[in-house]
Amino acid sequence: MSILEKLIQLESEAVSKAESASGLEALDQIRIQYLGKKGSLSEVLKGLGSASPEERPKIGAAANLAKAKVEAALEAKKVKLEGLALEQRLATEQIDTTVLARQAHLGALHPITQTTQKLIKVFSRLGFDVVTGPEVETEFLNFEAVNIPADHPARDMQDTFFLGPGVVLRTHTSAVQMRAMRSKSWPIRVLCPGAVFRCDDDATHSPMFHQIEGLWVDRQVRMSDLKGTLEFFAKELFGSSTQIRLRPSYFPFVEPGAEVDVSCPFCKKNPKGGCKVCKGSGWLEILGAGMVHPKLFQMAGYEATEISGFAFGLGIERIAMLMYGIPDLRLMFRGDMRFLKQFA
Ligand code: PHE
Repeated sequence: MSILEKLIQLESEAVSKAESASGLEALDQIRIQYLGKKGSLSEVLKGLGSASPEERPKIGAAANLAKAKVEAALEAKKVKLEGLALEQRLATEQIDTTVLARQAHLGALHPITQTTQKLIKVFSRLGFDVVTGPEVETEFLNFEAVNIPADHPARDMQDTFFLGPGVVLRTHTSAVQMRAMRSKSWPIRVLCPGAVFRCDDDATHSPMFHQIEGLWVDRQVRMSDLKGTLEFFAKELFGSSTQIRLRPSYFPFVEPGAEVDVSCPFCKKNPKGGCKVCKGSGWLEILGAGMVHPKLFQMAGYEATEISGFAFGLGIERIAMLMYGIPDLRLMFRGDMRFLKQFA
């Protein structure tokens, strides 16, 4: 058999083997067997010396062609096998999108935070800015500056946590009002949310709770402005049919002062079967309010005589209890996930 014939035979052998190779490894073996340094095609060319000079270039060209054809066959088969392998992988590694996802545990804002944010949102629509102050407060700003004299019962050790001489845990956010007035001149319209502390602990009182206090000082602020503001707030929070009523009351920092009730959002003032929330009265007390006492303006260094203002303060826990129907105040401070999860 001449070299040329041998080349052609090897070529067709290699191509058919490549085409029927069962896998990538077998394909590699075929490459080594035919195209490797010691492969059959190279071996054949070793006999080139015995060929005539005219034949040699022909054989060389034929050998290159045979190599190229075998390489092409190997490459084509490789692409085919790889494609098949990929298809197989895709078929077995398929993602089953119908499998139910594992539930992620999403955190949630605490009901007090949610309620605070809601209150801030309502009052910011009326132009109130949020200001905050320290929880550790001077006795002076917590009491004297807001017209609670030294002999006032609220200053008794029973109600107030004293941290040291002249230093208390603030008992209300009214101290922040005073700080706001002392640092800014009027007109002023601020909202002071924050934690407050009193020696009290039962189903409706906690030693730490939260208040939001509002203060509006300007020329000719009237009691009717206070009423309008609180009415807007009550309707925003509890629904447009909500009514409010003001009952005369006493707070040292306002004159006149009032306790403010909202019509019961549960029985809508119609406690036929006896409403548990308002205990049949149809009304719920939710906040204290009044016209800022002139003494506070003096304490703040506001000298203008034409200014007036109103202030109001409410307990955030109380609002949260009403908004969410929470029966016991203490639930909010226990960190019980069964309770907290309901606010997610
Ligand atoms: N600071 C009062 C309290 O702690 C609430 C209040 C604020 C009342 C402003 C009237 C005006 O109860």
